[in-house]
Amino acid sequence: ARQRTLVLVKPDGVARGLVGEVLRRIEAKGYTLVALELRTADADLLAEHYAEHAGKPFLGPLIEFMSSGPVAAVVVEGHRAIEGFRSLAGATDPTTAAPGTIRGDLARDWGRKVIENIVHGSDSPESAAREIALWFPSL
Ligand code: CMP
Repeated sequence: ARQRTLVLVKPDGVARGLVGEVLRRIEAKGYTLVALELRTADADLLAEHYAEHAGKPFLGPLIEFMSSGPVAAVVVEGHRAIEGFRSLAGATDPTTAAPGTIRGDLARDWGRKVIENIVHGSDSPESAAREIALWFPSL
C-alpha cells in the first residue's frame, strides 16, 4: 500500500551539509516529498519521538545530540516507502552499514556515546503514523 514515513536528517547530517544528498537519494529512488521543515527539536518532542527507547542508556545522550542543532524533518511517500527508506538508509551502525546506503557511504563511528548516523526513518506503519502526527500535526 501507499505509505508515508518520517525521515529526519539528524544534526550531524545537517551540519555536514548532507541534506541535499539525502533528499537527492530519496527522490532518485522515486519517492515523493510531501512535507519538509528545518527545525531544532526540544527535549520534550524528542522524548516523545524516542518513547520506545525509554530506559536505554543512550537515550539521554541521544536527546542531547538530536537537540544540538537543526534537523530536516521530511515526510516521504510511496508504495512501501517505510521499508524502502530503511533500505536506502542502511544498518544503524555506520561502520558496518553496506556501501551504497546513506549510512554506509556518508557516516562513520566517531567513538562517541551516541551513534551518529545521519538519518532516522520510521520502522513500521504504527511508528510512522505516530511520528508524523508528532512532527507535522497539521498533516
Ligand atoms: P534512530 O533510527 O534515530 O533510532 C534510535 C537512535 O539511537 C539510532 O538511530 C541511533 O542514532 C541511536 N542508537 C541506537 N542504538 C544505539 C546504541 N547502542 N548506542 C548509541 N546510540 C544508539
